[in-house]
Amino acid sequence: MSSVLPVLSARLSTAATEAFGLTLDPELRPATKPEFGHFQTNLALRLAKPLGLAPPAIAATLVEHLVVDDLCVPPTIAGPGFVNLELRTDVLAAAVNSPAAFAPRGERVVVDYSQPNVAKQMHVGHLRSTVIGDALCNVLAYVGYEVIRQNHVGDWGTQFGMLVEQLLDEDPAQSLDLESLQGLYQRSRAHFDSSSEFADRSRARVVALQSGDAGTRALWQRMVDVSLVEFERLYARLGTGLTPADVVGESAYNDELPDVVDDLTAAGLLTESGGALCAFLPGFTGRDGSPLPVIVRKSDGGFGYSATDLAAVRHRVRELEAQRIIYVVDQRQALHFRQIFALAAAAGWLPSTTIAEHVGFGTVLGPDGKPFKTRSGDTVRLATLLDQAVERATALLDERGAPIDSRASIAQAVGIGAVKYADLSSDRVNDYVFALDRMVAMTGNTGPYLQYAHARLTRLLAKADAGPTLVTVLENPVEQRLALQLDAFASTVEQVAETLQPHRLCGYLFELATTLSAFYELCPVLTSEGETRASRLALCAATRRVLGDGLGLLGITAPDSM
Ligand code: ARG
Repeated sequence: MSSVLPVLSARLSTAATEAFGLTLDPELRPATKPEFGHFQTNLALRLAKPLGLAPPAIAATLVEHLVVDDLCVPPTIAGPGFVNLELRTDVLAAAVNSPAAFAPRGERVVVDYSQPNVAKQMHVGHLRSTVIGDALCNVLAYVGYEVIRQNHVGDWGTQFGMLVEQLLDEDPAQSLDLESLQGLYQRSRAHFDSSSEFADRSRARVVALQSGDAGTRALWQRMVDVSLVEFERLYARLGTGLTPADVVGESAYNDELPDVVDDLTAAGLLTESGGALCAFLPGFTGRDGSPLPVIVRKSDGGFGYSATDLAAVRHRVRELEAQRIIYVVDQRQALHFRQIFALAAAAGWLPSTTIAEHVGFGTVLGPDGKPFKTRSGDTVRLATLLDQAVERATALLDERGAPIDSRASIAQAVGIGAVKYADLSSDRVNDYVFALDRMVAMTGNTGPYLQYAHARLTRLLAKADAGPTLVTVLENPVEQRLALQLDAFASTVEQVAETLQPHRLCGYLFELATTLSAFYELCPVLTSEGETRASRLALCAATRRVLGDGLGLLGITAPDSM
């Protein structure tokens, strides 16, 4: 059966329509106290004014029209006119015993995420995109979407003219890794700024690159390959779902760019401005009221970030046949995406049947509350942060006396899980402070807390040494609360797929783990007997499954012991 909450909501809506001819969201909420049943709605109170009737009378009429006897005990009216609903325990037990499953929806979603830049280290912003993007891919696949991942790597543009020229000036045969590439990048920048002769050569080199000159391409390819190797290493460490096959960098759209310009010209959307080709869209103006252009082709004939993104939209709709396109990118690029989506729609590349969404996120801050940088002002290396997190996790496990043989792999799961969970658990549009102490803590809304809840359940179930059992007894209110929350897993995941807000899943899992603690306190499991014991074990097994699946959707490993 499906989650009960949406079913009950629908029944209430129907009753309201039948009784009063109104279509309303009953805003069904969990009851605040066990004596109020499981859910309550204030629908009657909200209707008092429009209907000009007393809430208790409205509630009574509502209940008369409400058909829920297959799910609930008879509804009651309480206080000033709340309608209370209490599920039958057999219904609740059945909901836990046969959890909701999603069928394929026959819709395709493209998720553009991670997107590091060639010849530069990945920074914490790329961590955010990678972690959030990955969680969203998992969630979307879980609820039945076909997911196509696209790693829109920054591998194109004017900086590669400088890089190639600098490499030729120095020693084209020098060995390169990401670290030395970054150095090369910095030297090329300085060279570019100090020598107009070098600047001219760099510009000519970009033209050679973009027009396919073989020697230039080979040098560029080497830089791309060197960078991707290191990105892959980091992806493996993070345990992301991205593969080399998902890399479709900016360069992949190079051949389509002239055609993009032709299409836009034919549609009358381009204006020449200072030698550049620009699109001026209604509604896009700067603070001073001046129009904000999308620069499609620069005055030197080169294409930039916007042109590539336009080609990408076109490709994702035409070739990948996406119904939904999601861009997991820093919130500071919000305007860019609004412009791209508006222009793509105007050009007819983004039909109304495809939704493009910018999933923005805030900035990672250092302990000083400023954007996270090293003392010398460089970007903080992701690999270093992960090392530190694993170190903390190791210390934590040493303290706890975790099993020595698997301690190293558990520390990986806990350290990296802690960093990921901290990123996912706050509303993504907010900034957050990168504080390892808080992330790797065993208490509070943290990854380790949830991993521990899962590991403890694993141990308990192993100790019980019983085969699979079913939930049959739900007498204690806390057992009922646990069952209700377990039943809400599917609808929570569905909500995350809709709102693209992973922190809702984190909040749900944290609440579940908190209820589990209350359940342990009030309902002995291993020392209880007979059907009660079997039923409680089944509740524990279901909770373990939901915690494991939920963490899995967030991209976090749930070790069996901690
Ligand atoms: N590489 C860019 C950056 O590091 C992000 C790319 C975002 N994706 C896109 N389709 N524009 O800022």
